[in-house]
Amino acid sequence: MIKLTPSLLAADLLNLGRDIDRMLGEGLDRLHMDVMDGHFVPNMSFGPFFLQTIQQHYPDLKMDAHLMMDNPEPYLDEFAQFGAYSIILHREIAEDMNRLIQKIHRLGVKAGLSVKPATGAETLLPYLDDLDLILVMTVEPGFGGQKFMLDQVDKIRFLRKAGFRGEIAVDGGVNLQNAPLLKEAGVNLLVMGTTYFHAENREQVVRFVEDLNA
Ligand code: DX5
Ligand code: ZN
Repeated sequence: MIKLTPSLLAADLLNLGRDIDRMLGEGLDRLHMDVMDGHFVPNMSFGPFFLQTIQQHYPDLKMDAHLMMDNPEPYLDEFAQFGAYSIILHREIAEDMNRLIQKIHRLGVKAGLSVKPATGAETLLPYLDDLDLILVMTVEPGFGGQKFMLDQVDKIRFLRKAGFRGEIAVDGGVNLQNAPLLKEAGVNLLVMGTTYFHAENREQVVRFVEDLNA
């Protein structure tokens, strides 16, 4: 089963409620949220307060918090409290991954790890049993609207071969051309910023992904 999850970064922030209403109306209940600290990535976006605001208006929306940040630990409680459905950390940060994964689980939230393009999928092997989700980056993290890196797809196949049965998400440059290939490789979640929010016809994008399950 493959699902589309829109990435908030590409939404119309001045009309966010309208965009979320539309999403929900199209049957999409999962929103990808890129948290950037200006340090781990050369860009800044939004933090826990943003999730809190959305949670107050849309308590049933499942928010995946993709933390592109160093030192996320002091913020994990807030992300959990403000309704994160999952918290996704980056494998490249210096922290003790096992400890942070346990902490996320203790907070009652699904735990995910993400790898940048230069980070091998084998670095995830020690954690496979403890992870609910793996997010494979198919662009350098930091900005929307970049070109999909096809060579990253092997990571997905590798993780499935290694026996990972949790969710695999792909993030960066995902579009209707590469979606079928991603489905075939074993992806469950297609993160789409530009392809979804900037589409002339969003319903068509949603239907395309739904049809991949037929
Ligand atoms: C990039 C972010 C992505 C981004 C994807 O650092 O993690 O979630 O929003 O945007 P598109 O789909 O436009 O590549
Ligand atoms: Zn992301």
